[in-house]
Amino acid sequence: MQIFLDTANLDEIRKGVEWGIVDGVTTNPTLLAKEIKRTGRKKEDILHEICELVNGPVSAEGVSLDFDGIVEDAKYLSSIHPNITVKIPVTPVGIRAIRKLHELNIKVNATLVFSPNQAILAAKAGANFVSPFIGRLDDIGDAGMRIVEQIVTIFENYKFTTKVIVASVRHPMHVVEAALIGADIVTMPFNVLEKMFKHQLTDVGIERFIKDWKEAARILGE
Ligand code: G3P
Repeated sequence: MQIFLDTANLDEIRKGVEWGIVDGVTTNPTLLAKEIKRTGRKKEDILHEICELVNGPVSAEGVSLDFDGIVEDAKYLSSIHPNITVKIPVTPVGIRAIRKLHELNIKVNATLVFSPNQAILAAKAGANFVSPFIGRLDDIGDAGMRIVEQIVTIFENYKFTTKVIVASVRHPMHVVEAALIGADIVTMPFNVLEKMFKHQLTDVGIERFIKDWKEAARILGE
């Protein structure tokens, strides 16, 4: 399973990359706007720096809603760095754009996916990735992870090569559930990645080893 960071925060990405377990990054207009506000830097600079930090796909999203605008946004974003994957929401015009971008060899992450049907359409149009937003489904009382299960099965049934990115992840159990289902990728906020390390018994264990070792060193007069 690949781990992506769902953030545009360069400090968080630097830390994750240092740990050596970050395979890619996903951003969206909200996350980029936050980083622009925090740093005062232009979106192009931020995206370029993320791509230089991470050796893997970096998703970026435009805000145009019409076909020509979506395609132009995608061409522009993908010109920033070869690692850029363009996020396109799954709507009728979005699907048309995904097909066009597939023909142009521009990598696409079909986003705002809330049903297996949307994932099927995106895969058929040639999307490289689909991003089911599970947390937002959980928020409205739906079972977000259920659609991940369905999408993974459907893609296996038909040998679609589109990869499934579990997105809108809120806590470490989402990561475990996605891994059990066999999703290709989980993209998570930095705080979820930090929580994946955490176990109170690990902390207690380290404390005990250090205490016992110090005691032995005291006995030896070291
Ligand atoms: O990758 C999708 C993500 O950016 C949306 O997450 O937490 O805003 O639902 P969230």
